[in-house]
Amino acid sequence: MKALVSQPHLLSRVATLALGKTIGGSAAEFTDVPEPAISPDEILVKVRAVAINPTDHMHIDAISPSGSIIGCDYAGEVFKVGSNAARSWSVGDRVAGAVHGGLFPDRGAFAEYLKVDSDLAWKVPADVDDAAAATFGVSAVTAMLGLNARLGLPYPGEKHDIQRQQPAPVIFIYGGSTAAGLFAIQVAKLAGCTVITTASPHSTDLVTSYGADAVFDYHDPDVAAAIVKQYPDISIAVDCFSKGRSFSISDTVLKNSKGKLITLLQPPKPTYPGVEHEFILAYTLFGHPFQWLPPIGPRWPAIPDDRKALARFYATLPQLVSDKKLRAPPVFLEEGGWNGILTGLDKLRAGKVSGGKIVVKL
Ligand SMILES: NC(=O)c1ccc[n+]([C@@H]2O[C@H](COP(=O)([O-])OP(=O)(O)OC[C@H]3O[C@@H](n4cnc5c(N)ncnc54)[C@H](OP(=O)(O)O)[C@@H]3O)[C@@H](O)[C@H]2O)c1
Repeated sequence: MKALVSQPHLLSRVATLALGKTIGGSAAEFTDVPEPAISPDEILVKVRAVAINPTDHMHIDAISPSGSIIGCDYAGEVFKVGSNAARSWSVGDRVAGAVHGGLFPDRGAFAEYLKVDSDLAWKVPADVDDAAAATFGVSAVTAMLGLNARLGLPYPGEKHDIQRQQPAPVIFIYGGSTAAGLFAIQVAKLAGCTVITTASPHSTDLVTSYGADAVFDYHDPDVAAAIVKQYPDISIAVDCFSKGRSFSISDTVLKNSKGKLITLLQPPKPTYPGVEHEFILAYTLFGHPFQWLPPIGPRWPAIPDDRKALARFYATLPQLVSDKKLRAPPVFLEEGGWNGILTGLDKLRAGKVSGGKIVVKL
């Protein structure tokens, strides 16, 4: 089958890592690789659409070992069903989700076929097209991991008392117009929170339409002080951008209450004593240990509770989407089929994506 596979340009990857910007162009190529063999607990999916994440180009440029299939987010059709998965899936079912792309020779979304654990994918309702379905991957599950699994907010669709709390808990979401941010806002609103976020002025209407209660412009040098003035006691936050000033702004918002910040990239030390940082990675949701840049890179253990959280989220997602409780971010369709993936990756590398998700139909 055809797949986008990482290539060995080791020197450029090391240089990219050292300098923090992409050196040496794309280190992935379309290649013919074997169709993945499935275990009894897996399904094989014929991929119809993929969504592109910053992590995909970060893997190509720096992290992926040679020969790994790139890509995480997909929507498609069930093509084969493992013997233990036959109670939940049939050939032809519409399916979507996220896989651990970029690290394995037989697992990744930018491919004709992908394999996935049968309980870590969701059934796409008839009125949701493949492009929208493909967006409920890394961004959506990261929002769930941060807000529900780590900050302990009620899961979407869970019955809870938090909505009756007066005043409602306030959460700060830095980077509300990122794809992760648009899901985080929705997940926080479903948990009954008041949501304070940051975005560019051109994204204010967008984040408000996804549920944000107050929006501050992150370009304002005094944005943190302006937020603290109006909301002095915020104790929980998610940094959905996790670069540059985002950490210190979020720390300042949490300073009074010595609160907790979830970050999506490796954070520096907290700016103020008492403020806590926790760096999360969507990949821990897939239930296996892994290592980047083996044998020298960082290792992550399997976190069984994270896997349970993902299975639970994807089991409830069809209803949440049908009930319009969780909406896809705006979809930017990239034309060109397979080559559209490369164009989309370049747009993300260049920071040209605002307020939505690039999706390619295959
Ligand atoms: N740890 C994980 O598992 C995980 C999972 C998902 C994502 N991430 C990381 O989280 C980040 C966001 O990913 P994404 O896919 O959600 O991003 P994205 O949708 O590609 O982000 C684009 C958005 O970034 C916003 N932006 C640009 N500069 C900003 C700044 N200085 N402050 C705040 N917002 C800014 C833009 O907002 P405006 O147009 O409003 O300016 C734009 O809408 C990436 O760094 C990604 O690698 C990590």
